[in-house]
Amino acid sequence: MTMAGRDTPLKVGLIGFGAIGRSVAALLPASVALGVLTRSAPADLPVGAEALADADALLAWGPDVVIEAASAEAFAQTAPACLGQGIDVVAASVGALQDSALLDRILAICSETGSRLVVPAGAVGGLDHIAAAALHPETTVTYVSRKPPAAWSAELEAMGQTEAASRGEVSLYEGNAREAAARYPRNLNAGLTIALAAGFDRVRVRVVADPAVARNTHEIVVSGPLGTSTMSFCNMPDPSNPKTSAITAYSLVAATLRRFEALQ
Ligand SMILES: NC(=O)c1ccc[n+]([C@@H]2O[C@H](COP(=O)([O-])OP(=O)(O)OC[C@H]3O[C@@H](n4cnc5c(N)ncnc54)[C@H](O)[C@@H]3O)[C@@H](O)[C@H]2O)c1
Repeated sequence: MTMAGRDTPLKVGLIGFGAIGRSVAALLPASVALGVLTRSAPADLPVGAEALADADALLAWGPDVVIEAASAEAFAQTAPACLGQGIDVVAASVGALQDSALLDRILAICSETGSRLVVPAGAVGGLDHIAAAALHPETTVTYVSRKPPAAWSAELEAMGQTEAASRGEVSLYEGNAREAAARYPRNLNAGLTIALAAGFDRVRVRVVADPAVARNTHEIVVSGPLGTSTMSFCNMPDPSNPKTSAITAYSLVAATLRRFEALQ
């Protein structure tokens, strides 16, 4: 792999060592120096990785780039400080950006320091296509999150819809990406990712419990005068966290390494 213009190892800071964090650590090339910010130093850190106790230790370690793979709270606590030091952040917990005050603060920090917040495709894809089509003012985007009823058991019970969801699809939410992510922060990262690519006012979100799907499925329809595109992503769950798609860690690593490659 070409790391354009580098003669020292790339230093990657990783926040979180759960399902995504562990996969990210395993996927990064051996030539990368890894520092991991975790709540408690786990026994299975990769050989040579540095355990970092808090955000100050992470910044003092001097990463070239930070991958956040922890939680919306961890993102809100640490990403502004990293970006403020001129360090790019590649984020998994994109749902945190439903908070428009946090998003505005981050954009202001980035324009001041020149750092960049990278929103990778994560569990979905096609962001380049969505962003291109959204340059046309008449383009609209629909995102449907479809999961088996078991993934929404608590919500369906609260709605009195458990029985109905065993027979056919039940709509849990229909509206905009910001509100969807605020309601379901762990489940609607993808909706926010799409809205950040297309623009918040372009995207309609539906959240559906569907007994006909065996796995979490993301459907994106982009339509307008440029044409109609339909994308569907049916992901395998991460073995250690079934709520998380295994592809997400791969997306974070690809987006991180790409920043240092000659070919963009
Ligand atoms: N962008 C996407 O498409 C996408 C897809 C799946 C998950 N996610 C998000 O990625 C994040 C991580 O997902 P996961 O499946 O790895 O979760 P996980 O629960 O398996 O692991 C998260 C880890 O981060 C740790 N953590 C939490 N707060 C921390 C903090 N302040 N400092 C240090 N460590 C902290 C937890 O202890 C845990 O070990 C979640 O916010 C999830 O919503 C995003």
